[in-house]
Amino acid sequence: MCGIVAYFGKKPAQPILIEGLKRLEYRGYDSAGIALLKNGRFDIYKTPGRISNLEDILPPEDLQATVGIGHTRWATHGEPNTVNAHPHLDDTGKIVLVHNGIIENYASLKKWLIKEGCQFRSQTDTEVVANLIGYFYEKNCARDGQNAPKDRNRFEWAVQEALTEVHGTYGLAIMCLDCPNVMIGVKKGSPLILGVGENEYVIASDAAAIIEHTSQAVYLSDNEMVFVTEGGFETKTVTNIEVRKELSEIEISLDQIELEGFDHYMQKEIAEQPQVLETCLNGRVDVKNGRVILGGIQNQFRILARTKRVIMAACGTAWHAGLVGEFLFEQLARIPTEVEYASEFRYRNPILEEGTIFIAISQSGETADTLAAVEQAKERGATVLGIVNVVGSTIARTTDAGVYLRVGPEIGVASTKAFTAQVAVLAMLAIELGRRRHLGADAAQYLLRELMQIPQKVRRIMAQSDHIRRIAQANIDRENWLFLGRGLNYPVALEGALKLKEISYIHAEGLPAAEMKHGPIALITDRMPAVFIATKCSHYEKIIGNIEEVRARGGKTIIIATEGDDHIRQYADHLITVPDTVEQLQPMLTVVPLQMLAYHAAVVRGHDVDKPRNLAKSVTVE
Ligand code: F6R
Repeated sequence: MCGIVAYFGKKPAQPILIEGLKRLEYRGYDSAGIALLKNGRFDIYKTPGRISNLEDILPPEDLQATVGIGHTRWATHGEPNTVNAHPHLDDTGKIVLVHNGIIENYASLKKWLIKEGCQFRSQTDTEVVANLIGYFYEKNCARDGQNAPKDRNRFEWAVQEALTEVHGTYGLAIMCLDCPNVMIGVKKGSPLILGVGENEYVIASDAAAIIEHTSQAVYLSDNEMVFVTEGGFETKTVTNIEVRKELSEIEISLDQIELEGFDHYMQKEIAEQPQVLETCLNGRVDVKNGRVILGGIQNQFRILARTKRVIMAACGTAWHAGLVGEFLFEQLARIPTEVEYASEFRYRNPILEEGTIFIAISQSGETADTLAAVEQAKERGATVLGIVNVVGSTIARTTDAGVYLRVGPEIGVASTKAFTAQVAVLAMLAIELGRRRHLGADAAQYLLRELMQIPQKVRRIMAQSDHIRRIAQANIDRENWLFLGRGLNYPVALEGALKLKEISYIHAEGLPAAEMKHGPIALITDRMPAVFIATKCSHYEKIIGNIEEVRARGGKTIIIATEGDDHIRQYADHLITVPDTVEQLQPMLTVVPLQMLAYHAAVVRGHDVDKPRNLAKSVTVE
């Protein structure tokens, strides 16, 4: 949420910043801007809208600047207009910065700064930080006498002093006009990575903006600052204690973040699922012995298998995966499991008895609500595990141990491949835990053999893309949809509804199919498509009953059924089939046509699938 990129090196900064911002545009796209440091002045260009709008206003002569900062915004404070777009200057014009996060006490700080004589131009919380740093910088200069050299220490102190006053979250890249040879990056609660190239540095909120320049990076932890100069970089805490940071290898490659012939990242990521699921499973599943090996948590399995209770916390799509996980953990491992909205967890003063295992599920590993839940669980003494996609992300580094999804970068704002991989990881965990409790070897072998077949079966579903597009087309003028499933396919119904909502802007609700008759059935008309997930499973007969109830009231049905199920055809206005598999693993198949349905509906409606209205990838504000 909000993308930051900053360049310090010898090449023209402007094209590097623009390219970096394009790679980060999925983090926010309501306005954008850059500040270039050149000939003793800042040249700042800002505009509402996309990075392409920003490109339109850039003059070519700014190719001379070799230092600069850039930002693509997802608005929190103040509407997305030019004034509120980042970078923000302080009142004196000496400090300029870009910010990702939220300054919670900005109103009181602003009041105080205004009393001190500072002037503000924008409605943002960010401008307060710029002015606060400017205020302390000027104070330091005044104290040391105006003729004292404008050295780096004063800039550094000013940043440190300002940040002690600030409550909230931030990833910041900051420049000072008096100190053109230094750039500062600092983070708390929002991600910030330093890419270390040869005589050049890129500070960014995610690796996608760095990988083109270098694969070597330093992942900053909370309350750490980095100082980039021509001579190298230094890291210390905001309280001025030096810290040694190791260089890490960025694990993503350039082709993983390119469209590679697809029209949209979402389309690419749906299509990638067979291959990334293979990567997720390979080397982890030992079918012959009915066991699972998950390197990151192998040492935790013993504790996990003995736990009396598992709590999972996540948001959005990851929460839906958690609901599938709850079912799998209870059914296969017989461990009482609850799934919490991460955003609500900490407000309940949660009870975590001794021995509770807490599992955070997050694609980005940066979701602020999930991170807050992780911190809460840690404070209360739980063993905290993570199921995370982005290597080196904050949640991955904060949890005691974890499992990576291994699906590569997910750039489409609507999550797809992360969901299927989250379910695959939860299935592996549940089977191994079951095996260590009371699941027989034969049952585990059978489940794992079926699990290894899933990628191939997902591949078969892809062939129905045109058929699914026609279904989307036929229903495109319907503004309200229902998604209905039972058991393990209830979370899939929720996920199908969420996908449709977020990219098609169609109102959709996901419900347990049997709940419909307790109220929502009143909505059924021939104008409301009801999508049923009615595969061959233990609830099959019951869900047919629910379909009958809808049809009896003139409702139109789109049914996701098992291949070869001819009986169900009579109930379907539109039928989509998925290959058969064991009931516990069906969500990895049944969700795929729903992802495709949402994708096609959005395309047919002419929406920008990868940049849906009001949304952004990686929600780093609470
Ligand atoms: C929906 C979607 C969101 C995310 C949610 C959690 O398509 O992408 O609902 O699933 O914001 O994000 P992560 O998994 O990064 O914690």
